[in-house]
Amino acid sequence: MSAAPPFDAMPDPLQAVLNDVHAQVCGKVEGQLADYIPELARVNPDDFGLAIMTAKGRLCTVGDVDVPFTIQSVAKAFTYCIALEILGAEGVQARVGVEPSGDAFNAIEFDPVSRRPYNPMVNAGAIAVAGILRGAYQANALEKIVERFSLAAGRKLDIDQSVFRSEQMTGYRNRAIGHLLCAAGLLDEPIDDAVDLYFQLCSIRVTARDLATMAATLSNMGANPTNAVEVFDFRAVRNTLSVMLSCGMYNFSGKWTHDVGIPAKSGVGGGLICVVNRQVGIGAFSPRLDAKGNSVRGVHAMQILSDELGLHAFECTNAGSSFIEHLL
Ligand code: DON
Repeated sequence: MSAAPPFDAMPDPLQAVLNDVHAQVCGKVEGQLADYIPELARVNPDDFGLAIMTAKGRLCTVGDVDVPFTIQSVAKAFTYCIALEILGAEGVQARVGVEPSGDAFNAIEFDPVSRRPYNPMVNAGAIAVAGILRGAYQANALEKIVERFSLAAGRKLDIDQSVFRSEQMTGYRNRAIGHLLCAAGLLDEPIDDAVDLYFQLCSIRVTARDLATMAATLSNMGANPTNAVEVFDFRAVRNTLSVMLSCGMYNFSGKWTHDVGIPAKSGVGGGLICVVNRQVGIGAFSPRLDAKGNSVRGVHAMQILSDELGLHAFECTNAGSSFIEHLL
């Protein structure tokens, strides 16, 4: 009988699960690259990276976790969090709701009852949020926000200028949304300033490793677990995670919340974050998208990780409030 391996040589169980999920999902090649922004199609469709960081800062990675890509709509979670810090939940909700729309991310529409964008995770809501950020920080808005994103990632991030210009030249729907917001009195800043800021924020360059660290920062009540820097207000994080759970995957959000059960946000660059409160942040990158704009492999990998690691919010192993437990 062979001797058990020394403790140091035992495979890390979290790393083993991640390796296994990557191997299971890697062969999935369905889906299409986003090409409605021409520059977005210039990526390697086969790249695939997964990274998990615990809320205590332990990192496991597999695959293409250092390949840069643009954050796209994953930015919407973080910009919403910053807007909540600036105006508070009620202040932001005066301009943007918290209801799932059931429609595509780029729908040119408002909630017909409230006459506001449905939520901050679709383009209309995110452009209203960009207006709030531009109003608060004026010409320094981009710099200030990239600085916050960089603190969350634990390294200095920058903008992919060619993706920004490509979207700026072709983003007619988003400009239409800007005009609609202005007509409804939901945008105090010049339309082009708000929309250009939105385009720039979508063009922030990240890696799957960065996304895991940023997600772990949200999972750690707003403090980056690698260095304990407090990046986001914990109350804003709570409200951000709530909207990510109900609206983060666009018109796939209901099915996602039912099956995977984790606050998440996807982007058409192929990035995806998942945040398990006080436990882990997960970042995925694979640029082939399904018809709703979510990464095919990213969604699949998160489904398996949720099942394997018991990450669903309503998994029977999640005990809920320890305070209530104490009272029972
Ligand atoms: O508004 C747009 O078209 C993009 N810059 C961001 C969209 C996006 O990532 C939607 N995601 N699934």
